[in-house]
Amino acid sequence: MNVVNDPPALFEPALTSEPEALGPTGRPLPNLPEPPPPAPGPKRATIIALCNQKGGVGKTTTAINLGAALVETGRKVLLVDFDPQGSLSVGLGVNPHTLDTSIYNLLLSKTTDIHDVITPTVVPGLDLLPSNIDLSAAEVQLVSEVAREQTLRRVLVKVRHDYDLILIDCAPRWGCSRSTPSPQLTE
Ligand SMILES: Nc1ncnc2c1ncn2[C@@H]1O[C@H](COP(=O)(O)OP(=O)(O)O)[C@@H](O)[C@H]1O
Ligand SMILES: [Mg+2]
Repeated sequence: MNVVNDPPALFEPALTSEPEALGPTGRPLPNLPEPPPPAPGPKRATIIALCNQKGGVGKTTTAINLGAALVETGRKVLLVDFDPQGSLSVGLGVNPHTLDTSIYNLLLSKTTDIHDVITPTVVPGLDLLPSNIDLSAAEVQLVSEVAREQTLRRVLVKVRHDYDLILIDCAPRWGCSRSTPSPQLTE
């Protein structure tokens, strides 16, 4: 008599003696490799913009959590609040209404020093470039500026050697136009 050994069905859990470790959601914990430490030598930050036309899709939440997770791997991270609502700043404990200077001043004035605007957070290695409602005026005020879509790039290149990563948390609309200061043009 022929015995046919059927292959296991797709998605059928493998029979192992070790029970799988479950995460807080009840699903198996993924076996992710440990990220390597940052490369030695001078830094040149990778700049990542979190942008989407739609609001409420998790841009700010991702920026905070991704930033904190990257810091845990030994990297130095700058979070850039590029939303006039200032949700990223609020999320990191900064009251946007009490700011003397914000990213708005950096976009509009060449004399403001970015180091004076960057705020350390409670997480060592994680810094914030805060924003508030003033930023909503920047687009109109920069209308006569030559190459105004490069403005944010000009601001961030000054600290690119201080960080391993720069994460830009965009407002729903920002980042999708080439006529406004655009995070896409930072790389
Ligand atoms: N992965 C997620 N699962 C469930 N809720 C989330 C998740 N990410 C974000 N949220 C919630 O969605 C809402 C909008 O998130 P937010 O990061 O402010 O979006 P955005 O910056 O795109 O406007 C917040 O209430 C946040 O707590
Ligand atoms: Mg947001």
